[in-house]
Amino acid sequence: MLSLSAIEAARPRLSEVVRCTPMEYSHTFSARTGAEVSLKLENFQRTGSFKIRGALNRIMTLSAAEQAAGVVTASAGNHAQGVALAATRAGVDATIVMPEHAPISKVKATRSYGGRVVLHGVDYEEAQTRAHEIERDEDRTYVHAFDDEAVMAGQGTIGLEILEQCPAVDTVVVPIGGGGLIAGIATAIKATRPDVRVIGVQAEGAASVIDSLEQGTVQSRDSVKTVADGIATRSVGERPFAVIQQRVDEVVTVSDEEIALALTLLLERSKTLVEGAGAVALAAVLEDGFAYDEGEVIVPALCGGNIDMNVLTTVILRGMVQLGRYLKIRTVLPDHPGALEGLIEIIAEKQANIYEIHHERTSRKIGMSDTSVEIDLETHGRDHAEELLATLREAGYAVDVLE
Ligand SMILES: Cc1ncc(COP(=O)(O)O)c(C=O)c1O
Repeated sequence: MLSLSAIEAARPRLSEVVRCTPMEYSHTFSARTGAEVSLKLENFQRTGSFKIRGALNRIMTLSAAEQAAGVVTASAGNHAQGVALAATRAGVDATIVMPEHAPISKVKATRSYGGRVVLHGVDYEEAQTRAHEIERDEDRTYVHAFDDEAVMAGQGTIGLEILEQCPAVDTVVVPIGGGGLIAGIATAIKATRPDVRVIGVQAEGAASVIDSLEQGTVQSRDSVKTVADGIATRSVGERPFAVIQQRVDEVVTVSDEEIALALTLLLERSKTLVEGAGAVALAAVLEDGFAYDEGEVIVPALCGGNIDMNVLTTVILRGMVQLGRYLKIRTVLPDHPGALEGLIEIIAEKQANIYEIHHERTSRKIGMSDTSVEIDLETHGRDHAEELLATLREAGYAVDVLE
């Protein structure tokens, strides 16, 4: 099983390429939770996520002959970029198989780090099959994203940094996809500070570790669905799972809405951009996903910042809805001059700002002499939104809130 010495040995191998990422105390999240929250900002790692740590350690520990033959992997996301840059910096040739529909931005980024990208298959599974063919045909080494001791050891260097940067830490919170990251961090931490809790977080729609811990063996989900694409993994790896069973104190889940809220708050309050998987650890703290004491020193690991800009727009909107700062309502008005004015007057009196308004007369769902009105509003928070809705309803408007 993965050892502390493997992680300590990885550290000097990575030092020339990998950044020791910042640890920032957060006044906002400490005040919000009553804990002492410091953020491990691994989203500022090179390539935008921690993945370069494990990939580089794996590539640097290959024999000279293996390095000369090159490496291959399959990935639709952060691992692709991590392997590409790690290989380039180690002077090793890398082929990365990405699904045909991988976001253009990720394909471009992987190429820009020096990887040779092969687009193949409709999903990750098909890309992986092709990568294994290339492994056999070209005698390359397959760099697994998580189920590999050297990869886990590389990711574990984050654990060493956390202990040095925040010696008073009580609890470290880590996202789980395939489990390589948490296996490394938990090993680094428990070997020297068994008193420090390690909490794992999965997305509700991809919670195979919860199933696996219940059954005592690795369980796989038929499908996964979450905004946190970095951890949308069908099953945890065998090696990481063995470590999780022994060294992780608790595994909890968060919903996509909770992830969106944490991501939006990080942007607004900490000026920090993370991807969905990078927000899950903080989401678990904000939502009391696990029990903690007043004043407990908690370090959520924000492990990546590679988010698609279109996804970001949607996530921010969902986060604003959660915060009660964006309200979408619908009501039906009689279709005569002045009917809309009455409604708008109340909205203006209540100091809500109209972003968008849509008037619809042709829907078969409403009477011929009615008009359906949808309004997107900026409100000041949940209380203000509730107050506005109550006032509109008291004034006789049957208002529905659209999710
Ligand atoms: C940003 C981010 N966070 C967390 C994870 C989870 O890492 P692991 O698969 O090692 O559990 C990933 C995996 O790709 C990721 O990209």
